[in-house]
Amino acid sequence: MDQAQKKRNAAKASLEYIQDGYILGIGTGSTVNALIELLPSVRNKIDAVVSSSVATTEKLEQLGFEVATLNAVGDLDLYIDGADEATKHMHLIKGGGGALTREKVLAGAARKFVCIIDDSKLVGMLGRFPLPIEVIPMAQSFVSRRLVRMRGQPIWRENFVTDNGNHILDVHNLQITNPLELESRINQIPGIVCVGIFANRPADVLLIAEDSGVRTIGA
Ligand code: 5RP
Repeated sequence: MDQAQKKRNAAKASLEYIQDGYILGIGTGSTVNALIELLPSVRNKIDAVVSSSVATTEKLEQLGFEVATLNAVGDLDLYIDGADEATKHMHLIKGGGGALTREKVLAGAARKFVCIIDDSKLVGMLGRFPLPIEVIPMAQSFVSRRLVRMRGQPIWRENFVTDNGNHILDVHNLQITNPLELESRINQIPGIVCVGIFANRPADVLLIAEDSGVRTIGA
C-alpha cells in the first residue's frame, strides 16, 4: 500500500473520535489534508473548528467551514494532527511543515490529542528527522550557537517564514534519549519560540496506518 493511501486510512480512522457538539482543532500537513477532505461527512457533529495554520484555514474555508479563533472558543474537545516522528510513548517530533508553534498551542488546549501517522513515522527513538525549532529572526545565530553546544547541527530553513513571521532551524544529529528533558532544556534558550518536540504534552492516541490496517496506541 502506498504512503498516501496509509495517510488517508489514518485520517479516516480519526473521524470516529469526533462526537456531537465538539469544538475541534485541526493540524497541518498532508495527512491532515486527507482528514480535511473527509470532514464534510461529519460536519453536523462539529460546533466549531480551530486551525493551526494559514494553509489549513484556507483548505477548511474552501469546504465551507467557518474557522474560529482559539480565543473565541476556549479549550478544544479534540485536536487531530499528524507528526514527523512518533514513539510508542506518544512523544512526537513535529514542525516539518513549519506550523509547530500553533500546533503546540492547540495540542495544549485540547482535552484529547489524536495523532495520525503512517507506519514510516513510528521510531524507537526520536531524532532521525531533523528537529524543527521556530526562532525569532534576530536570535537565529545566537540560538544556532547554543544548539551546536548541545551537539546539534542546526540548518536554517531557507526561504521559509512561519505564519508568525519567524524562522525555522532544522537541527540534525540530536540524540533524543530523553524527550521530556530535552524539550524543557531547549525551551530555556532565549529567542526560541517553540521546539518541535511534543513530549510534555504528548499525543493521547496514536493511529498508525499499516498495510494490514490502522493500529491504535492509547485511548
Ligand atoms: C507540520 C507538522 C506535520 O504534522 C508533520 O510535518 C507531518 O506532515 P505530513 O502529514 O505531511 O507527513 O508538524 O508542522
